[in-house]
Amino acid sequence: MSAARSTQLDAQIAEHPERFRVLTGDRPTGALHLGHYFGTLANRVRLQRAGVEVFVVIADYQVITDRDSVGHLSGNVRELLLDYLAAGIDPETATVFTHSAVPALNQLMLPFLSLVTAAELRRNPTVKAEAEATGERSMSGLLLTYPVHQAADILFCHGNLVPVGRDQLPHVETTRLIARRFNERYAGGAVVFSEPDALLTDAPVLLGTDGTKMSKSRGNAIELRCTPDETAALIRRAKTDTGRTITYDPEGRPEVASLLLTAALCTGTDPVDLAASIGDRGAGALKALVTEAVNEYFGPLRRRRLELATDPAYLRTVLARGNARANEIANNTLDDVRRVMDMAY
Ligand code: TRP
Repeated sequence: MSAARSTQLDAQIAEHPERFRVLTGDRPTGALHLGHYFGTLANRVRLQRAGVEVFVVIADYQVITDRDSVGHLSGNVRELLLDYLAAGIDPETATVFTHSAVPALNQLMLPFLSLVTAAELRRNPTVKAEAEATGERSMSGLLLTYPVHQAADILFCHGNLVPVGRDQLPHVETTRLIARRFNERYAGGAVVFSEPDALLTDAPVLLGTDGTKMSKSRGNAIELRCTPDETAALIRRAKTDTGRTITYDPEGRPEVASLLLTAALCTGTDPVDLAASIGDRGAGALKALVTEAVNEYFGPLRRRRLELATDPAYLRTVLARGNARANEIANNTLDDVRRVMDMAY
């Protein structure tokens, strides 16, 4: 269902990019890695280049939902912004902003919270998994309600397209529910908020160097900002298997397959062909090929990133401008909400 809808949306985007506004974002927990890049970041840049207006939230209030220690937030925000800009997010057309700088967005959470029941909040799969993992009693109120906050992220700017992986689909459903209920309950059926669509990204899941899903917290990630030498060292240590002949077999040989996929994504080729080209030259040859592919593909991004990092004043300006624009839009939306709720005094 969602996949078919996404194909349909892709066709509409190609024809009428100006009808769409994308809202998406990340928690600022540090620098992004190859999994993020091929999973979401490249797709955002693609949509932007197709002429869609793109909003990116640096979700700082989401970082504090479930962590005892939130890390170095301002540093993490800076790393994230560097990754965005180096990857091609264009601050002239895209709006990059942080939760904490946009009061009116956060205020939308109050009327939105009135539209969902506590039982519905507990049914959200991410919330449920977290409650089971950490024990319901230690779950913060913000964790329980963050899908509603995420609805405010999307609805404050009337985003109608949310490119996400499957794990985020329930959040988009919550957003649709809130939009619908807001219109019914507070606006007498007038459409104040339209229901956004999820755009499923058929993101390949890249494994980290230890053979489990690439993730910063597991320490198995190749970050976009890695130097060529760091990249080589990480890939050299990557887990493979004892099979001498390289084949593309995601089920039976997940680690080798993920390395092949990484090289294929970087070179725009087919992992099966790549495997055949290595043949019985083994894991060493595979790793050399992957290292070269990654360093070649990410060379320009990394050079831009280094250059941008020398200009903190520019980074501050980009964020200040994004925040100013997000505030302007959020203030307008909140004014509309006050008006329909008979709270414009
Ligand atoms: N929850 C998302 C993540 O962890 C980040 C996010 C925050 C987001 N607000 C959003 C994604 C709004 C899409 C739309 O990756």
